[in-house]
Amino acid sequence: MKTRTIPYTNYSEKNRLEMVDFYNEATEDYKFWSKDFNMHFGYFSWFKTNLFRRDTMLNEMNTQIMKRLQIKNTKNRLIDLGCGMGATMRYALNNFKNVIAYGVTLSDFQVKKGNELLKGKNGIIIKENYNNTFFQSNSFDSAIAIESFCHSGHNVNSLKEAHRILKPKGRLVIADAFLKKNHNNLCCGGKFAYQKLCEHWSLEKLETHHYIKDKLEELGFTNIKIEDISYRVAPSVLHVPFAISGFILKKIFRFKNLKRESLHNLKGSFYALLSGLHLKSFGYYIISASKQ
Ligand SMILES: C[S@@+](CC[C@H](N)C(=O)[O-])C[C@H]1O[C@@H](n2cnc3c(N)ncnc32)[C@H](O)[C@@H]1O
Repeated sequence: MKTRTIPYTNYSEKNRLEMVDFYNEATEDYKFWSKDFNMHFGYFSWFKTNLFRRDTMLNEMNTQIMKRLQIKNTKNRLIDLGCGMGATMRYALNNFKNVIAYGVTLSDFQVKKGNELLKGKNGIIIKENYNNTFFQSNSFDSAIAIESFCHSGHNVNSLKEAHRILKPKGRLVIADAFLKKNHNNLCCGGKFAYQKLCEHWSLEKLETHHYIKDKLEELGFTNIKIEDISYRVAPSVLHVPFAISGFILKKIFRFKNLKRESLHNLKGSFYALLSGLHLKSFGYYIISASKQ
């Protein structure tokens, strides 16, 4: 086991604590977004997904991620770095009998409830920081990070840790929103949406996809592929206003109060939609790479 040293700045520490609170309190709300507890956006595919059935698109994102992991018939140890309720892990375990899945999250709620959903399956969720895990080096065949590295501001430490725990020839697949240009160059509207999005979803910052490519290369990853899938993701982003309205109406009809974290989450979803409208500033990407 290695010693843990994370050089947190005050800002990242504050952001991390807020993020943990946010997920402990607001994870339950995602049931409204996805009955399978997918805590990400979807991937639209003609003839495979239904524009009006969000979960078909959310699960298609899982399919697309798995496809890029290039899983063979041999035993495959998979790690989900920022696994939420383990929806992608469950998807992998249901579709690949040779997969053993590990997930890490910092939310106690997700560890408890996510593991209940994994009962009887070959998977486990552990409370660990994906920037500095206790796993041995060279221990995983596959690593995924879906909309999770943004919470640490697309920090190079997250990529370094993924590289360390992957076996040689292991695959890393990241799906996330990235900036298309440096945040200093965003237009006023873009800057506003970006700041509000980060604030409400506890994202330290977003990086550009160019930055990620450079860092992956520096770390020694090969076969780096950057795919702009913004138009595939857009239909599920357009579900946001309907999902928000439905969620609020349900609370009103049941005479329930909206928690502070739930309200934060709803506002965050709205700013995600607003950011998405700035097509020249933001994009949604799948980034895949192999460890040499
Ligand atoms: C938007 S959710 C995505 C969950 C999951 N990947 C999915 O698509 O359903 C972000 C996840 O990242 C996790 N996370 C954020 N920062 C983390 C960190 N430093 N270490 C471990 N998990 C982290 C959160 O706890 C949460 O589970």
